[in-house]
Amino acid sequence: MKILLKLRRQENPTAKPYFQTFAYEGNNNISVANLLNILNSRENLTDVSGKKAAKISWECSCIEKKCGACAMVINHKPRLACDSFLEDLISESNEIIVEPLRKFPKVRDLRVDRRSIFTGMNEMKMWIEGDAVLNDDDYSSHYLSSRCIMCGCCLEACPNFNTENGFMGAVGIVTASKIINQNKEGSHRKEVEKNAIEHFFSSCDQTMACYNVCPMEIPIDDMLVRVSKGFVTS
Ligand code: FES
Repeated sequence: MKILLKLRRQENPTAKPYFQTFAYEGNNNISVANLLNILNSRENLTDVSGKKAAKISWECSCIEKKCGACAMVINHKPRLACDSFLEDLISESNEIIVEPLRKFPKVRDLRVDRRSIFTGMNEMKMWIEGDAVLNDDDYSSHYLSSRCIMCGCCLEACPNFNTENGFMGAVGIVTASKIINQNKEGSHRKEVEKNAIEHFFSSCDQTMACYNVCPMEIPIDDMLVRVSKGFVTS
């Protein structure tokens, strides 16, 4: 079956975006990341109408669901390109729509500037000070929170997030859960708790849109309860 990849393209941060469609026929047991590589490896890349096209700009590092760099919107849902397989995406139509994350400034094509995630983590003081202390019953939750790869899918889906308002959504609360888990006491723990209130609890409407798109399937609701319970017990 011929697959049509409808791609939202943009030449630079201020250029007008447009859609361009590419055709692919072959093995469907490959990911969107693989397909982007296949298209870019064509000596003369042309779209479905035969028009010459520039190489597709996108970002990746690991191609195995570890770095988060390939986050994009695929068939209207934020996902990782390396973990989204053609055979799963074409059950209703042979067209796959691929767009950049909409909440972040565009760089080119599918490449966006996700720096606000990392500056937000810095502002929330998401690091540990002193020795990490984990009790036996902390390990399973610590493992789950450590799965976060900061891809930004949760923020893309969240109605409360934009890059200007300081709200850090699920990535903020999951990381806070990890830090609070390891910091049992002290002034830094207090600061992280205060920042969790300021950058998460004060603005979260609990739509839980993040929960449905997290590619790492982190139980964000559990993390949220765990952090707020930490406030009570500390
Ligand atoms: S390329 Fe690293 S998560 Fe997809």
